[in-house]
Amino acid sequence: MQLDARQQKLLKRTFLDYQQTAGFFDNPLVVSKADGLYYWDVDGKRYFDSIGGIFVATLGHKHPRLMEAMQKQMETLSFAPPMHGTSDVTLDFVEKVGSITPGNLNFVKAYSGGSESIESAMKFVRQYFKQTGHPSKYKFVSRYYGYHGATFGAMAASGTGKRKTPFEPHMPGFVKVFPPTYYRDRFATWEECNRFCARMFEDVILMEDPETIAGIIVEPIGNTGGIITPTDEYFQIIREICDKYNVVLIYDEIITGYGRTGNMFAAQTFNVTPDIICGGKGLSSGAIPMGAMIAREEMGDVFFGRVEDDVNFAHGHTYAANPLACAVGIAVIDEITENHWDQNAQVMGDYLATKLEDLKKHGVIREVRGKGLLRGVELCKDPVKQTPFPELGLALKKTALNNGLIMRIDPNWFAVAPALIVNKDQIDEMCELIERSLLDALEIVGV
Ligand SMILES: Cc1ncc(COP(=O)(O)O)c(C=O)c1O
Repeated sequence: MQLDARQQKLLKRTFLDYQQTAGFFDNPLVVSKADGLYYWDVDGKRYFDSIGGIFVATLGHKHPRLMEAMQKQMETLSFAPPMHGTSDVTLDFVEKVGSITPGNLNFVKAYSGGSESIESAMKFVRQYFKQTGHPSKYKFVSRYYGYHGATFGAMAASGTGKRKTPFEPHMPGFVKVFPPTYYRDRFATWEECNRFCARMFEDVILMEDPETIAGIIVEPIGNTGGIITPTDEYFQIIREICDKYNVVLIYDEIITGYGRTGNMFAAQTFNVTPDIICGGKGLSSGAIPMGAMIAREEMGDVFFGRVEDDVNFAHGHTYAANPLACAVGIAVIDEITENHWDQNAQVMGDYLATKLEDLKKHGVIREVRGKGLLRGVELCKDPVKQTPFPELGLALKKTALNNGLIMRIDPNWFAVAPALIVNKDQIDEMCELIERSLLDALEIVGV
C-alpha cells in the first residue's frame, strides 16, 4: 500500500514502536479491520496474520466469545479501582488462573500489560525479601538479548542493546548472562552449551554475593534473539541454583503463556515450575490490554500479615484488575481449556515445524527453533559457513507485506506464531506465503 498526504502528515505527528517513521513511509501498513487470522489495510487488502498481531491474538482477532464476555461485563461494571476494593469478576479471575497454573502458583494480580506485570513482580520480590529477613537481596540476574518490557525496571532487566542505549543510565541492581545461542558454536553439542550457560547463573550469583541476589528473570523461549529455545535441563539447573541460594525464579511468559507452546504455560512444556509467572499478550487475545503476575501462594501470604502490622504491597495501577479485562481473561482461559487449543498448538506446531524445515532447501536457513505454535527461522548466507544474512531479512520485510503476510522479522531471523485455533489448511496457506516472500526476497538480494 501507499500512504496518502494526510496519512503522511499525521504519521509525522506520532510514533511507531521500535521503528523509524521515515523508513515506514517506504513500506507502510495502516490497518482498519481484523478478523480471525487476517488483517485488512485501509485499501481493503487482506494480510495473513502469522504472528497474532505481535504474539497476542491467540484465539484470532475479534473472537465472538471474548466480544460477548466483554459486552456482558460492560453492562454491569467496567471499572473498579483496586484502591477502593475489588470486584466479583476480579475474584473469579484469580480463581480461574489458579486452576490452570502448575504447582502452587495461586497468588494472582491482573494488570494492563506485560511491562506492568514484570515491573510489579520485581517490586513484589524486593519487598518480599525485605519482609522475610533478607533486606539486602535486591538484584536481578537476566539475559542479554532478553526483552521484558519498555518501562525503566523492565528495560533494566532487558538485554537488548539498541533499545536501551538512548536511555542510559539504567537502574542499578541488574546483572546479565548470555543465552545459550550466544555460545553454541563453541560446544560440541547444544546440550553441553545449555549446561554451561545455565551454570553461568551460579557463577554470577557467587561473584555478586548470593545475599544480594533477589531473582532470576528469563523468558522460557526468548523472542528477541530469535526464538531461543533452551533444553529442559537448562531450566532444571537454573531451578536448582535458585533453590540453593534462596533466589526467586521468574518466568516472563508474556509470549509463551496461555497455550502458545503446546501447554497452558511453558513452565509445563519445559517441566520446571518457577516461583512467579508474568503474563500478558495472549491472556486477552488482544481484545483488551491485559497482563497478570502469578506467584507462589506462600509468597503472597507474606503480604497478608496481621492488621496491626499494616503490611501491604506498596504498589498499584489505576487500571489493574480491570473488570472488563478480567472477564476477557476468564473467557480466554475457558475457550482454550474447553476446546484444547493448547493441544492444537502442539499438533499444528509440529506440522508447522516440518514445513519450515522444508524451506532449508533454498539454502539460506541455518536453524528452525521453537515449541508449539511459536517458531523462529534463522537466516544465513550459506548453511555451511553460517554467516548471518540481514540483507535478506530486510528484503523479506518488503516482500512479505507485498504478498499479504505479516510476520516478525528481525532481520537475522523471522518468527511466526499464528493463533492457536489455526488449522492445517491455514498453515499451508501461511507457509506458501512465507516461501513466496522468501523467494522474492532472494531475488531482491540477488541470490
Ligand atoms: C517477552 C516479553 N516480555 C515483556 C513484554 C512487554 O509487554 P508489553 O509490551 O505488554 O508491556 C513483551 C512485549 O513485547 C515481551 O515480548
